[in-house]
Amino acid sequence: MTAGDTTSATPAFDTVSIEVDAEHGIGWLFFDRPEKRNAMNPTLNREMILALEVLEADEAVRCVVLTGRGEAWSAGMDLKEYFRVVEAGPPHVEVRARRESAEWQWRRLIHFSKPTIAMVNGWCFGGAFTPLVCCDLAIAAEDATFGLSEVNWGIPPGGLVSRALAETIPARDSLWFIMTGEAFDGRRAAEMRLVNEAVPSDRLRERTVEVASKLAGMNTHVLRAAKVGFKKAQQMSWDEAEDYLYAKLDAATGHDPDQGKQQGMAQFLDDKTYRPGLGSYEKH
Ligand code: COA
Repeated sequence: MTAGDTTSATPAFDTVSIEVDAEHGIGWLFFDRPEKRNAMNPTLNREMILALEVLEADEAVRCVVLTGRGEAWSAGMDLKEYFRVVEAGPPHVEVRARRESAEWQWRRLIHFSKPTIAMVNGWCFGGAFTPLVCCDLAIAAEDATFGLSEVNWGIPPGGLVSRALAETIPARDSLWFIMTGEAFDGRRAAEMRLVNEAVPSDRLRERTVEVASKLAGMNTHVLRAAKVGFKKAQQMSWDEAEDYLYAKLDAATGHDPDQGKQQGMAQFLDDKTYRPGLGSYEKH
């Protein structure tokens, strides 16, 4: 099997799809409206919530990669179905559409129980920045095109886009792109730390599989505590963070089914079989 070959498919959705590469422990989650450049309509937002639940429950999946079918990662919120149609309906329809959008784009994704990687294969605009930032890591094609295009069609960045930007891009760059609406490529996205890396498009999948496989091979329980701890502590005072992070550390190590800490310390201190600074302990 070559890097990224997938082995099984799960439920039939209209706007998203899932492929599970059990060999590498990777769950591929696709925006799947290529004919609409993967714009996020209310159906897609609803299906993403369900798809994340499927991936969370699948024990063969130890890392999730969010990517797009076709030319786009996602062209952002669907201007027709998320805005025009919803706004023309009764108020509760808009309330529901906003709730379901937020539910997966940040709430489920940001603290997802497994590592997540955004693999940005093409167009990435507006509302798509929220799930992009809420994935733990992001790898983009050098020639992917990003843009905070909202001002170009007459609104300030919608939803939680501005909040998401504040997590990653420095204020000068955020304001530049928010206010000019100019597009930028994957290289610039990496320079601003919106993504971890930009690679040539013909290496995108291979590099993503490499990173995802590494994470999938690690202790999922500890990775979860590590990433959620980091993300939550960002919002806290030092006092609160000290209390919270020690509590999480004790909970994470106390409940770790793999007893990673014990294995890691024994292999370093007693067996002297590895160096934690240079790699991971051997899981038994
Ligand atoms: N909302 C709704 N429909 C969208 C969409 C969006 N965000 N992005 C693309 N589409 C639809 C187009 O309306 C078109 O539909 P049609 O075939 O029924 O006419 C189809 O997807 C293809 O789009 P098209 O513009 O022809 O593709 P392209 O490859 O020439 O250009 C983009 C791609 C992404 C540059 C362009 O579609 C675009 O600018 N989209 C809007 C991006 C945006 O501002 N998003 C922010 C939303 S918050």
